[in-house]
Amino acid sequence: MHKPVLVVDDEPEMRLALREALVRMGYVCTSAPHPEEALSMESLDKFSLVITDMKMPKMDGLTFIKKLRKRVPGMPVVVITGYGTVENAVTAMKEGAVDYLMKPFSYTALKKVLEKMASAKDEPGMIYSSLEMKNLVERALRAAGSDITVLISGESGTGKELLARFLHASSARSKGPFVAVNCAAIPDNLLESELFGHEKGAFTNAVERRTGRFEMANGGSILLDEISEMPMPLQVKLLRVIQEREVDRVGGDTSVPVDIRILATTNRNLQREVEEGRFREDLFYRLNVLPLELPPLRERPEDIELLAGHFLSKYSGGRNLKLSSAALEKLKGHIWKGNIRELENVIQRACLLSDDEIGPDHLGLQTQLSPGVNSMTAGSVKDVEKQLIMKTLNETGGNKSRAARTLGISVRTLRNKLKQYGQGLPGEEKFSYSAAGRVL
Ligand SMILES: Nc1ncnc2c1ncn2[C@@H]1O[C@H](COP(=O)(O)OP(=O)(O)OP(=O)(O)O)[C@@H](O)[C@H]1O
Ligand SMILES: [Mg+2]
Repeated sequence: MHKPVLVVDDEPEMRLALREALVRMGYVCTSAPHPEEALSMESLDKFSLVITDMKMPKMDGLTFIKKLRKRVPGMPVVVITGYGTVENAVTAMKEGAVDYLMKPFSYTALKKVLEKMASAKDEPGMIYSSLEMKNLVERALRAAGSDITVLISGESGTGKELLARFLHASSARSKGPFVAVNCAAIPDNLLESELFGHEKGAFTNAVERRTGRFEMANGGSILLDEISEMPMPLQVKLLRVIQEREVDRVGGDTSVPVDIRILATTNRNLQREVEEGRFREDLFYRLNVLPLELPPLRERPEDIELLAGHFLSKYSGGRNLKLSSAALEKLKGHIWKGNIRELENVIQRACLLSDDEIGPDHLGLQTQLSPGVNSMTAGSVKDVEKQLIMKTLNETGGNKSRAARTLGISVRTLRNKLKQYGQGLPGEEKFSYSAAGRVL
């Protein structure tokens, strides 16, 4: 049985056409002429999907998606974009839209998008081939077998949330809810009642009782995303939830028992946050029972090809789109500072820009200054500067005026810098670069 779909579009013809198509496919369709009307619906969460236009007179699609996300966090959204507004689709996907349809689109295109979404719901697919990831997934699966608290760390875009969803889906709680709370996105003063809920009249604006996210996750898992951003007073309350498995609503006087697994993510080094007094040590140890660390993409280049292929089929909209070998090479040579999310965005954009083959120019990747410099994760500005200079000199075969021009500094400055380093010519330098561009 298909679930209800909500269509939001200011054009009556489009609403009608979509309704007809959706009904033919077996969906139940409700439509709204503008976002305000959609947002005023009592039971927005009963819809299994929202299809919305991007360009609407009173409130644009992007604002609508943001508001909708607040009301119903996990709601899948498909956006309709006009020809030539590729950027719009990209921005919408960043805001959490799951797919897009470009006007004019066919019945088949719509059907494909819906089918893809239905199948994507089953399993949060983790794509990898590297040994590092194999080991990590194995550890995650072992953790899934119990109710152990899991702390997932890793740079931005490495797949922390995906791993958390995967873990939940692989656990005995998979039929229960998965509730994600981004601790960084919710203002400090609202986070407490968001997480713990509040009783009616608990504070001035508490006109109604509100169920907190911990209670919503009952029987399932809660993901505390970016846990390092949780304010200290709440850290104390969280510690109590972990230890006692009960929550205290704001303004309430009884505790509510909760049956939940707690997952947390961080892209900061929590140990260091503890040392610097920003994170409670006792909470850290409670969370760190089973740490899972996602390696950055540059440490697992073997995964790039597979991931690129995965995103290609995800975003090609059913077309037979290929990735040229030159484009693949370029992808492999890029230092992915934004990790998998960056790779995903690049492929998505390339899919929008190419007809039947993605070439290197469709990727929109800027030539990076120096992979060696970019791949460095530590080091002072001076170190980076020095390596950039030495690398440039290497590339110009020791030609100082050419190197100075590339670097945008005067030859005299370059000479002075070299003097400071105690090095005359690159021939005598202590740095060399491997084929992969790493500083050796
Ligand atoms: N192994 C993977 N296979 C397939 N897709 C992946 C994989 N890892 C990450 N992704 C995709 O990359 C994007 C970023 O992943 P995710 O949001 O989980 O990262 P994150 O570590 O939580 O990032 P941030 O720190 O910015 O919140 C998502 O669209 C996700 O589906
Ligand atoms: Mg995340």
